[in-house]
Amino acid sequence: MTSSLATVSYIGATILFILSLGGLSNPETARRGNLFGMVGMAIAVLATVLGPRVTAAGIPYIVGALVVGGAIGLFAAKKVQMTQMPELVALMHSLVGLAACLVGFASYVDTSTVFPSEAEKAIHEVEIYIGILIGAVTFSGSLIAFGKLSGRIGGKPLLLPARHWLNLAGLLVVLWFGRAFLHAPDIQAGMTPLLVMTVIALLFGIHMVMAIGGADMPVVVSMLNSYSGWAAAATGFMLSNDLLIVVGALVGSSGAILSYIMCRAMNRNFISVIAGGFGGGAPAPKAEGGAAAQPQGEVSPVSSAETAEMLREAKSVIIVPGYGMAVAQAQHTVYEITRQLREKGVNVRFAIHPVAGRMPGHMNVLLAEAKVPYDIVMEMDEINEDFPDADVSMVIGANDIVNPAAQDDPTSPIAGMPVLEVWKARTSIVMKRSMASGYAGVDNPLFYKDNNRMLFGDAKKMLDEVLVALKT
Ligand code: TAP
Repeated sequence: MTSSLATVSYIGATILFILSLGGLSNPETARRGNLFGMVGMAIAVLATVLGPRVTAAGIPYIVGALVVGGAIGLFAAKKVQMTQMPELVALMHSLVGLAACLVGFASYVDTSTVFPSEAEKAIHEVEIYIGILIGAVTFSGSLIAFGKLSGRIGGKPLLLPARHWLNLAGLLVVLWFGRAFLHAPDIQAGMTPLLVMTVIALLFGIHMVMAIGGADMPVVVSMLNSYSGWAAAATGFMLSNDLLIVVGALVGSSGAILSYIMCRAMNRNFISVIAGGFGGGAPAPKAEGGAAAQPQGEVSPVSSAETAEMLREAKSVIIVPGYGMAVAQAQHTVYEITRQLREKGVNVRFAIHPVAGRMPGHMNVLLAEAKVPYDIVMEMDEINEDFPDADVSMVIGANDIVNPAAQDDPTSPIAGMPVLEVWKARTSIVMKRSMASGYAGVDNPLFYKDNNRMLFGDAKKMLDEVLVALKT
């Protein structure tokens, strides 16, 4: 492939990636967005492998690596549960960081490149230094995020004394060794500062994510997504590969925007997330179905037949799905119930909290899979004001995202987090198996409100019963 054909292919792939991001911003166009991304990536890989910078002798190695990597990716994608996606994503981010580090070291020891001037050599070395720095932080930070999300490492934030000073000292040492690296007379002399910086960056990545409480992990995953984009862009600079620079910048900036949106949804400060070491107030997450929270009063249990009756008599119903719906795989039954109610003239809508479930868009994916029409699926900001007009709000396996303590209790670990105001409906029904707390590990006063009913049991089983009762 000639160099100009490779350039044209890169431009085509870039356009497809931009279209892909545009498509992914809406559930209705998300499939098409994915397709654009896949075609763009196929073109990018082909143009790189067959492009002018790869010799014929190198192709078998690349194809071998593609087969091995592709097989591992296929196996992981087939095996992973939807609820394990965040940890898989974190693991993949770590690979991007590792790749940036390896490319950085390889570029540094590669003596085949001849630089036309000292200035260009210095720029290349700055790219290597920064690329390895971002890559190492992304690598170790993502591994810790994987450990925390998969429960291999406890969710409790590790807050070292004077941690901000430690971070600042690390930054100064990195700058100091950066100077030494740039002034090194040869590769051997430059290797020591490069290795010292890498170790500090790895420790910084560990420290940054260890300091974050379990409840704040979603923001961290999306932030590491952003870091992995910048690591890829840095790799693009090191390899003088324009496509990698553009794609890295796209991932980096879209990840940063997503982090910002999630910070707002969880009432966290974006700047302190980027700087690392936040979330000290958040408690460790409990294991799923963790210990029951301290009781705060009487709850009013309800049966599935009574639930069906309340739904049948309602004019307006708002359904709030949460993580428990994903665990129970109840989305298809939820849609069947929705259909039944709509046929009876009930206005049924869904309220989606930005961090419902365990990954961004988790509920949207499940509802789309069950073929729930997009026009009745509302974002939190679109529907929160409508709860006072709803006859029934039905909470299916959600907890933290409907916790009134976020508004009423300034001492609550989730104080200030925007929540869906389900308690403002005439009656709210919460469907869950027990009184156990949710991901943030905090008690939920909603359960004890006078107008709230608890439908205890597995969401799928209870909804099946409600559906049977609705049909009779
Ligand atoms: P949670 O607060 O985690 O509550 C889920 C509830 O579902 C639990 O209290 C659990 O109660 C119930 N449940 C579990 N399995 C069930 C089943 N089979 N049938 C019925 N109920 C079941 O979920 P949420 O309200 O969706 O809030 C999400 C939380 O996860 C937030 O704290 C958020 O910050 C965090 N988080 C979000 C993300 C993203 S990006 N979405 C990523 C990581 C963490 P029982 O055990 O009593 O049944």
